[in-house]
Amino acid sequence: MSELTRILVIDDDEPGRQVMELLLKKAGFAPVSAENGAQGIALVRDGQADLVLVDLFLPDKNGIEILQEIRQIAPELEVVVITGHASAESAVQAMKLGAFDYITKPVNFEELKIVIAKAREKQRLLSENVYLRKQLQERFQFSSIIGASSAMQRVFERMQRIAKTDSTVLVFGESGTGKELVAKALHHNGRRKGHAFVAVNCGAIPETLLESELFGHAKGAFTGAVRDKIGKFEAANHGTIFLDERDKIGKFEAANHGTIFLDEIGTMPLHLQSKLLRVLQEQEVERVGSTKPIKLDVRVISATNADLEEQVRQGSFREDLFYRLNVIPLQLPPLRDRREDLLPLVSHFLDKFCHLMGRPLMTLSKPALDALERYRWPGNVRELENVVERLVALTEQDAIGPNDLPVEITEASGRPKGICLDLSPEGIDMPTAIEELERKMITKALQMSGGVKARAAGLLGLNRTTLVEKMKRLGVT
Ligand SMILES: Nc1ncnc2c1ncn2[C@@H]1O[C@H](COP(=O)(O)OP(=O)(O)OP(=O)(O)O)[C@@H](O)[C@H]1O
Ligand SMILES: [Mg+2]
Repeated sequence: MSELTRILVIDDDEPGRQVMELLLKKAGFAPVSAENGAQGIALVRDGQADLVLVDLFLPDKNGIEILQEIRQIAPELEVVVITGHASAESAVQAMKLGAFDYITKPVNFEELKIVIAKAREKQRLLSENVYLRKQLQERFQFSSIIGASSAMQRVFERMQRIAKTDSTVLVFGESGTGKELVAKALHHNGRRKGHAFVAVNCGAIPETLLESELFGHAKGAFTGAVRDKIGKFEAANHGTIFLDERDKIGKFEAANHGTIFLDEIGTMPLHLQSKLLRVLQEQEVERVGSTKPIKLDVRVISATNADLEEQVRQGSFREDLFYRLNVIPLQLPPLRDRREDLLPLVSHFLDKFCHLMGRPLMTLSKPALDALERYRWPGNVRELENVVERLVALTEQDAIGPNDLPVEITEASGRPKGICLDLSPEGIDMPTAIEELERKMITKALQMSGGVKARAAGLLGLNRTTLVEKMKRLGVT
């Protein structure tokens, strides 16, 4: 491709076209010419033009039609229309249809050059814009994480910033909200991605073994320690570590430069908490039964579904460790607070399980979706994923109706939502009713206090922070 700007001139007037070509060439452009509309369109289709000059009156098609066709074939191409004095109306129409500008005959070449320069500048800015947007999308490659809601979009934005750093992250979120998924995505989008991601499920490992799991042990450190063993921290050296509860231990290979994921960090016994704190501060571990420190470069991501701050207040979690782990908090919202994600998640899981089970893509009927939307999803995305898997495995027809849904979902979602002090025979959905009650009381208190939160909190016997948290959780504005 030529470096010069290729300007396609579509004009049936041969002498006029030749003059134009000459002038364009002299001005440093690469003219390409077509004597009718069809020829011009073919050249555009062929990618032979960077900009188009088209006469409004041509034998086969008029310039307006050509303009419309070019807009379709190559929307990024700018078109300048050349018109006689008499056709001002068409010129206006051409502008409306997206022509970049129009020039009246006889053409003032200096004027034309300015128009061309402006059109090229616009194209340059646009392509830069497209490029920037593409780059942004690439950076947002948390593609395995579905989230259309604004709450999840905020999470993605935050993740994008966090992934590039080495900062310690604490992921908060109810069970099944995607804490581990997010921890992995942070690892895989950061500079440690080529190294290990080592997950440790602090709640699933017996207390007596956790220390040696994390930090390793020296041969002879205790009965059964027949050889040296490296711990999860060493395994994650130069990477990230994520502390969790559900993962099996031992399935991760020892690898350098990784991430350690400490899941269910809240279950870690106090004496280990102080050891962990020391490891984080010193960036080195000592294997159990050894006094030789081993230098580490490990990123730590931990997760909890417990209220760690409350645990700090109660003394079961060290405050200094909490602050050390909570350098960057990342809060995952429960599914019931982001209903917009429901349909995209259902589609995602239908796609996944239909594919896995080798059946044609199933669809969800509107009433079935409504029922899913009414349900409270205490188990969050994990629960939804399991429900969809069951539907794909058990539903015979390809369209899922409300009757195919598990009874706990249809029952709970059919129940009255309002406050119900009198338990009716069909029962209530208690968690929803309690939330509704809280919402009403907060709204009332805010009304009574003229929107002053501190005063509303006083009326409710709450401190201001608790009120603000509740408002956020319940979506009270
Ligand atoms: N936004 C999401 N998009 C797609 N899949 C998701 C999303 N969130 C969670 N999942 C899926 O839901 C399941 C549960 O996610 P994950 O294990 O990360 O949750 P968790 O918060 O660690 O749960 P727990 O507290 O129970 O350990 C996984 O299979 C995960 O892939
Ligand atoms: Mg988990």
